[in-house]
Amino acid sequence: MKVTVVGAGAVGATCADNIARKQLCDELVIVDIKEGFAEGKAMDLMQTAQLEGFDTKITGSTNDYSKTAGTDVCVITSGIPRKPGMTREELIGINAGIVKTVAKSILEHSPNAIIIVISNPMDTMTYLALKATGLPKHRIIGMGGALDSARYRYNLAKALNCSPNDLNATVIGGHGDTTMIPLTRLATYMGMPVSNFASEETLAKVAADTMIGGATLTGLLGTSAWYAPGAAGAFLVESILRNERRIIPCSVLLEGEYGQTDICMGVPVIVGRNGWESIVDYKLNEEEQAAFNKSADAVRNMNDVLSTLDI
Ligand code: 2OP
Repeated sequence: MKVTVVGAGAVGATCADNIARKQLCDELVIVDIKEGFAEGKAMDLMQTAQLEGFDTKITGSTNDYSKTAGTDVCVITSGIPRKPGMTREELIGINAGIVKTVAKSILEHSPNAIIIVISNPMDTMTYLALKATGLPKHRIIGMGGALDSARYRYNLAKALNCSPNDLNATVIGGHGDTTMIPLTRLATYMGMPVSNFASEETLAKVAADTMIGGATLTGLLGTSAWYAPGAAGAFLVESILRNERRIIPCSVLLEGEYGQTDICMGVPVIVGRNGWESIVDYKLNEEEQAAFNKSADAVRNMNDVLSTLDI
């Protein structure tokens, strides 16, 4: 199996590191436009092989996509990250052109690749990759919900003083500070509703903290986060390459599901060897559906910006 990670910045390198440590593939290629950068990251990572006990072969490439030929899964992390005070949406002008070029370049050499999009604004970049490549919808997956749900479990685990591994909690909707929807009603602690363990007020704060999880880290770090975004990318690669068929909230093309059409947004999907297989219907209540529709309006407004860009 072969995986390509495009973008050797902090998210891409962390994703590659996780993929190698988990030994998800035999070959891993890192691509970056900065001369020598991907080669350097690949060499540094390869020098951890004996220490970490993996034998995935990692190589770097300065924008030469012929080295990515035969890729089974490609993770796109390229583009600029946000700075403190910036929203993910403000990155669209620069990142759209990059994501479009990268998606096309990958498919030129690996027509059967499954593409995972991490670049922001993630839902719009996923939609763009789908439209620009004409790839079957099941082969384009936006990563946001996996990350947002991991952050939700982190915040819930702190509030409940428990292990995040005993929690089941999902974030759907857009991957934006005001568009994501932590599904508090469906969150459980070993099968029991979390409302049995925390007050409504606490759970509302947990949800609010989750929604600004990325912005909080950007404020602390001076740039956007990388450990959890990179790990979330690798988590998706794992479910694909090992055909785990895990239910993971991801941004995928909706064609009537959750009441929306012609938009990529976070919903729970089964992720396996052929990409995302099917959308799981969580049967939202009225309030949750209203939040989902509002989130869709915001994502759609962002998608509309694409047509104004010269890409
Ligand atoms: C985040 O939320 C990078 O969008 C990513 O940290």
